[in-house]
Amino acid sequence: MTEPIILAIDTSCDETSAAVTTGRQVLSNVISSQINLHKKYGGVYPALAKRAHLERIDHVIAEALKRARANLNHQEPAAVAVTYGPGLAIALEVGLAKAKELSANYRLPLIAVNHMEGHIYSCLAQNRSGRPQREVIFPALCLLVSGGHTELVLMKDHGRYQVLGETLDDAVGEALDKAARILRLGYPGGPIIERLTEQALPSSKFKVQSFDKAQDKSVKFLLTPPLRERGNLNFSYSGLKTQFLYLVQKMSETELGQNLADLAAAFQEAAFEQLIRKTSDAIEIHQPKTLLCGGGVIANRYLRTLLRRLAKENQLPVFFPPAKNLIGDNAAMIGVAAGYKFQRKEFVENLETLDREPRLSL
Ligand code: KG4
Ligand code: ZN
Repeated sequence: MTEPIILAIDTSCDETSAAVTTGRQVLSNVISSQINLHKKYGGVYPALAKRAHLERIDHVIAEALKRARANLNHQEPAAVAVTYGPGLAIALEVGLAKAKELSANYRLPLIAVNHMEGHIYSCLAQNRSGRPQREVIFPALCLLVSGGHTELVLMKDHGRYQVLGETLDDAVGEALDKAARILRLGYPGGPIIERLTEQALPSSKFKVQSFDKAQDKSVKFLLTPPLRERGNLNFSYSGLKTQFLYLVQKMSETELGQNLADLAAAFQEAAFEQLIRKTSDAIEIHQPKTLLCGGGVIANRYLRTLLRRLAKENQLPVFFPPAKNLIGDNAAMIGVAAGYKFQRKEFVENLETLDREPRLSL
C-alpha cells in the first residue's frame, strides 16, 4: 500500500520549514534558518521571528513542493500537517494560519502535530529509498533535548506517550546557550561549546562509566551535579548555571582566556552527566526495547557517543535522526509523525477552533 503524501509545516521557533513526506520517507525538507537574525540578541527575538516566518513561508512551501515534484492543484499531497505547539505563540500562528488556508483552499484534511512528537519521529525518518530500514520496538524510551525542552518520555505505541521526567527549570540546550553567554561567546551556544570542548585538555574529558571518580580526579573545574536521588527522572539546569557563573566571575580576564576550553568542557560534562544518569535510571526502571533520541542538542557528537555507550551496556538499539537536517527544527519530522496520525484518521475536525498551544505537552 502506498502511503499518502503529506505537506508539513513547522514555524514553532526560529526556523521556517516545509516538507513533503510519504509514510516515513522524506521527499523534501526545506529549512530557512533565522539564526543570523537573532544572533545579535543572543537568543530568539519573537517579533522578528514572526516577521521572518511571514516573509518566508510561501517561498519555503513552494520550494518544498517543487523539490518533491508535488502539486497541490492535483491534490497530490493528500493532507496538510502543521505544528500547533509547543513553541513561540506568535511564531506558531504563522504556520497554523497558512496550513488552515491551504487546507480550506485545496479541501485537504488538516493534521495537527505536537512539535516534541515530531522530534521523536525524526528518528524514524527515511530517505526516498526507504533507508534506514530499522523498526522501533515498543515500549521505547525517548530522550528529547532541545533549546526549549529536556524530557524523558515512555512511548508505549505510536501516538501513546507518558512523560517520565522533564526539566524543572532550564532546558539543556538553553543551559548550554547561557553557559556560552557567561563565557562571552556567541549564539547558539551548544555548537560553540562543543567545538571548544574538543580543544580541552584530555584531562577534562570524563569517563562515562564512572562519572564520580572522573569528576574527583581529572576534571580541572568541578561542578556539583543536581538531583542525585535515584529514580527521580526530572532534570534541573539552573543550579549548574549559577555555579558556573560564580566560577567564571572569580576569574581575571587572563585566567578566563587561558581556561575557556576547560570551562566549556566542565559545563558540557556536567550537563551531559545528568542526561546520561537520568536516562540510565529510566532504562532500569522501565525496561524499554528501543532508545530514541531527538532535539537540537543531539547534534553533539560527544553526547551521541555517551548515549551509544549507555545503549550498548543495556543491549538496547538506539536511534538518532538519520540526517543533519532532521536534528534541529524541521517540518519533515512533523510530516513523518503526521503519517501515523493519517493512518489513525486523526484529522482536525473544525479549523476554526484549532488554536496554537505554546505550552502543549505530550
Ligand atoms: O531542537 P532545536 O533546534 O530547537 C528547539 O526546539 O529548541 O534545539 C536548539 C538547541 C540550542 O539550545 C542549541 O544550542 C542546541 O540545540 N544545539 C547543540 C548543538 N547544536 C545545537 N547543543 C550541543 N551541541 C551541539 N552541537
Ligand atoms: Zn525543536
